[in-house]
Amino acid sequence: MSEPILELTGLNKSFGPVHVLHDVDFTVRAGEVTALVGDNGAGKSTLVKCVAGIHPMDSGQVFFNGERVSVTGPRDAADLGIEVVYQDLALADNLDIVQNMFLGRERGSGWLLDEAAMEKAARDTLASLSVRTVKSVRTPVSSLSGGQRQTVAIAKSVLWESKVVLLDEPTAALGVAQTRQVLDLVRRLAEQGLGVVLISHNMADVFEVADRISTLYLGRMVAEVATRDVTHSQVVELITAGRSGDLGLARPETATV
Ligand SMILES: Nc1ncnc2c1ncn2[C@@H]1O[C@H](COP(=O)(O)OP(=O)(O)OP(=O)(O)O)[C@@H](O)[C@H]1O
Ligand SMILES: [Mg+2]
Repeated sequence: MSEPILELTGLNKSFGPVHVLHDVDFTVRAGEVTALVGDNGAGKSTLVKCVAGIHPMDSGQVFFNGERVSVTGPRDAADLGIEVVYQDLALADNLDIVQNMFLGRERGSGWLLDEAAMEKAARDTLASLSVRTVKSVRTPVSSLSGGQRQTVAIAKSVLWESKVVLLDEPTAALGVAQTRQVLDLVRRLAEQGLGVVLISHNMADVFEVADRISTLYLGRMVAEVATRDVTHSQVVELITAGRSGDLGLARPETATV
């Protein structure tokens, strides 16, 4: 088992009176895909946004490569090499692939952007991920399919020497072939040594690509298990009831929202 690259301990997060995350511990390992699963509203996206520095944590500690770090804003997360592909994809429709991949981080000085260098980097990144379905990196994102957009969003996240990539339901809106491509891409990121977090409601996808499965139930981390040690139905029980046999909460009825 590889070393943890990112570890959260005792994470709490409330929105006003609503306590969304309760003392959550979460570990991401380099070279592995960790699936983060849980029912709608369990707190998955909130957890990711806390890691990304979008939502301030109320309490909790973050360790990166074993060292305590503070993530108080998106800049801190980006500097550590933590990248997120959000559930509500943040791509700009009116811009092309290169412009999207470099949005806010354009190369060049002042008015002179190094278009050639950015274009090459965009093309090289897509190639390194074996992405072949995008014909030209000068295609406007508005004319891409859902799967191609996901691919661009994922490629964008690995353009920055990222170490950890968190993908919030990257296949939710995709067809069979496009889902296939994105799942292959997810595996490839892990093979390149990144710590990958995949949020998904699709058990088949989770069991196919994930090395480990972490289950949130009503804002509590009820189990972090190796995929090979559990069955589909155990994970479904963990998601819906917070426990399955010896796994999960000892007394789920004590979990209050
Ligand atoms: N910005 C916010 N302000 C107030 N409440 C929020 C906010 N973001 C999330 N919540 C609440 O936090 C809880 C967890 O939401 P979250 O989006 O993290 O769930 P999720 O596990 O990602 O669900 P899904 O599978 O539907 O995407 C929900 O009850 C939601 O209403
Ligand atoms: Mg979500």
